[in-house]
Amino acid sequence: MPDLRVAVVGLGKIGLPLAAQYAVKGASVIGCDINPEVAGAVNAGACPIGGEPGLPEAVAQAHAAGRLRATTDTPAAAAESNVVVVIVRVGIDEANHTDLSNLDAATKAIARGLRPDTLVILESTVPVGVTRSHFGRRLAEGSGLSLTDFRLAYSPERVSSGTMFRDLATYPKVVGGIDAASGEAARAFYEQVLDAEVLLVADAETAEFAKLAESIYRDVNIALANELAIAAEALGVSYKAAAAASNSQPYSHLHAPGLGVGGHCIPVYPYFLIEASGQPIVSLSRQINDSMAAYAVDKLAAAFDGNLAGRRVLILGLAYRGGVKEATLSSALLVADALRQRGARPLIHDPLFTATEIESYGLEAADLPPSEPVDAVILQALHPEYKDLDLSALKGCRVFLDGRGAMDHARVQAAGMRYIGIGVG
Ligand SMILES: NC(=O)c1ccc[n+]([C@@H]2O[C@H](COP(=O)([O-])OP(=O)(O)OC[C@H]3O[C@@H](n4cnc5c(N)ncnc54)[C@H](O)[C@@H]3O)[C@@H](O)[C@H]2O)c1
Repeated sequence: MPDLRVAVVGLGKIGLPLAAQYAVKGASVIGCDINPEVAGAVNAGACPIGGEPGLPEAVAQAHAAGRLRATTDTPAAAAESNVVVVIVRVGIDEANHTDLSNLDAATKAIARGLRPDTLVILESTVPVGVTRSHFGRRLAEGSGLSLTDFRLAYSPERVSSGTMFRDLATYPKVVGGIDAASGEAARAFYEQVLDAEVLLVADAETAEFAKLAESIYRDVNIALANELAIAAEALGVSYKAAAAASNSQPYSHLHAPGLGVGGHCIPVYPYFLIEASGQPIVSLSRQINDSMAAYAVDKLAAAFDGNLAGRRVLILGLAYRGGVKEATLSSALLVADALRQRGARPLIHDPLFTATEIESYGLEAADLPPSEPVDAVILQALHPEYKDLDLSALKGCRVFLDGRGAMDHARVQAAGMRYIGIGVG
C-alpha cells in the first residue's frame, strides 16, 4: 500500500477496531485517544476493549507488524498522517440538545497538526451540516488553512459493537464529500482498507442524513411495534403471532416490541433531527419507546393486585442490549425508576458489569441466583447467559416479565411463575 498513514482519533469500541482493520489492510496507523491507559495498552499490543470478537488478535497482529501504535498527542499524529478519521462520541445533554464537546476538543487538536492535502473523514454520527459548517470551519480556523486546502468527507459508521469485523466487511460504506475531490479521495481510501462496497453519495449532508434516517427508521418502527403490541393486548390478540402473519407480505416489516430502546445511538440520533426540524412522528416515537418501561411495570403491578410496595424485583441486564457492556440510556434505568416510584425495591444483575459498576448507576447489585428470594424477575437485556436461565433457582419468584419476548411461555409457567410479556394479553 503506497504510503498510507492514517490517524484514528477516538480509540473506543468503534475506533480501535477501525484502527486495527486499516493496519491489517496494510496502512500505518496511529490511534489517538485522550485516555493514556488506552494508548498504553495498544502500544503494548494489548486490547483495552472487551466483547469484540477478533479484536485482540487484530490489535496484536497489527502491533507486531509495526503498523499500529497509539498516542495522546493528536496534533503530532495528524501532522504525520495523510488521512485522519474521527470517531469520538457525539451525544445529547440532559435537555436532549446535541453535545459536540468531544468533537470540538478533537477538532482543536487535529487542527494544530493539520497539513495541506490531508484527507479528514468524520465518522461520528452528527446533525446534518456539522461536517462542513461546524467541523470543517473549525478545522480551517484552527489550522490557518482554507477549506479547499484539505479534503473533507463524512462517512457514517453503521456497524454494531460486538459484530464489528463482520459488519465492516459487509455493510456498504456510505461516503459524501464537501466537494467532488473530497468524496473521491474518501472513496479511494475506503476501497483500500475495507472489503465492503463503497457507496459515494452526492455530498456530506446526504451521508449525514442517511445515517440519521436509518436510526430514526428503527426507532419509529420499534415505537409502532410497541403501539401495536399494546393494542393487541387490549384486543386479546398475540402480537407476535399476528406480526409474523403480517410480515408474510413483502411490504410489511413489523419489528419486535419491548421494554424500550437504549444505548448511545438509536435513542440519541432522533434528537439531532428533532432539534433541526421537529417532525412529530420522530418525537412521538421517542416518547412511546421511553414510556414502555413504565407500561411494563404497570403490567407487573397488576399481577400483584396493583401494589408493588416492598416487592423485591430482579432486573436481568443493566446493558441496553444483550452481549454489550454499555449502559448509556439503558431501559434498565427507566425500569428501575418506574419500580421505585411504585415502592418496589429493584435489584440488578448483569454478567458484564461488576457490583461496583452497577452501584455507580445508583442501583443495587444482585447475584444470580439472588442470595435472597425475589417476588418478580424482569428480563431486560438478553445476554447469552439468560437464554437457558435455571428458573428453578429463582426462589420465591411469582412473576416473570419477559421484556424482550425471549422466554418460552410454557417453561416459565412450568416453573410455577406467571408469564407476562409485551403484546401478550
Ligand atoms: N458503539 C456503537 O455501537 C456505534 C455504532 C455505530 C456508530 N457509532 C459511532 O461511534 C461513535 C463512538 O462510539 P464508541 O462506542 O466508539 O464510543 P466510546 O466511548 O467507546 O469511545 C470513544 C473514545 O473516544 C475517546 N475520546 C474522547 N474525546 C476524545 C478526544 N478529544 N480526542 C481523542 N479521543 C477522544 C474516548 O476516550 C474513548 O476512548 C459514536 O458516537 C457513534 O457516532 C457507535
